Amino acid sequence: MSTRVRNSVVFAVVLGLCLPAVGRPAGRRGGYGYRESADFVVKRLRLRRNSIVVDIGAGDGWWASKMAARLGPKGLIHAGEVEQKKVDAMRTKWADLKQIKPYLCPTDGTGLEADSCDLAFLSKTYHHLNKDGHVAYLKHLKEVVKPSGKLVIIERHPALASGRSAEHGWLPGLLGRQAEVAGWMMLRCELIPGSDHFMATFVQPETFAKTFAKRREAAEKKKAAEEKKTAEETKIPAEEKKSGKQEK
Ligand SMILES: C[S@@+](CC[C@H](N)C(=O)[O-])C[C@H]1O[C@@H](n2cnc3c(N)ncnc32)[C@H](O)[C@@H]1O
Repeated sequence: MSTRVRNSVVFAVVLGLCLPAVGRPAGRRGGYGYRESADFVVKRLRLRRNSIVVDIGAGDGWWASKMAARLGPKGLIHAGEVEQKKVDAMRTKWADLKQIKPYLCPTDGTGLEADSCDLAFLSKTYHHLNKDGHVAYLKHLKEVVKPSGKLVIIERHPALASGRSAEHGWLPGLLGRQAEVAGWMMLRCELIPGSDHFMATFVQPETFAKTFAKRREAAEKKKAAEEKKTAEETKIPAEEKKSGKQEK
């Protein structure tokens, strides 16, 4: 083989190895491309120092560690997993992070008390939930999350995926309908930059309804007070009315 031919072969092989990685969307790299946009995701969660979070299907605890970094000593991440070995691995890996509490959770719920969390977070776990159990699970989360709290779900958009990865995804429209049936209200749904995953955020409509009812009540009171004041200012005093009559 001549040097020229050999160089061409080497170049073709190197190009062949590099191109797929360059052309592939970030979201497909190992299935965890969305991790590159962790800052975007975590900012959107609007965690407070004392937030209590349940990370359902926490896996290796990677998201839990990102969230824990935003919390103070009173904040906590319940890192739920259905696989004991993952719970054990998290306990070892994040032993120094006191805000992460790995635990073995049932497959049909979090096992946590009502109104105990500010945020329920599921990253690539929703499609793993028991078949036909999604609405029931979302109803359960409505119990566990405080009325002022939120639900955030990350899934791969099947239309943007290919091959087997499309099976490990969920349609945002279907998720929105299921969440609505369970009593959640979608606040926003957006693609995670550089990824084929979307992030959907839900709140509890009752909390918003209460806020708006209070605002309406305050506006009505203000209007009634203004009308009363105007009526008093334009009222003709009784004596004036009387003298008016006398003049006639
Ligand atoms: C694809 S991994 C996602 C891991 C992690 N959330 C992430 O985004 O990097 C899905 C995880 O959900 C867990 N899982 C499956 N079904 C579950 C269920 N019903 N409740 C809680 N976790 C579950 C699996 O054991 C697995 O670790």
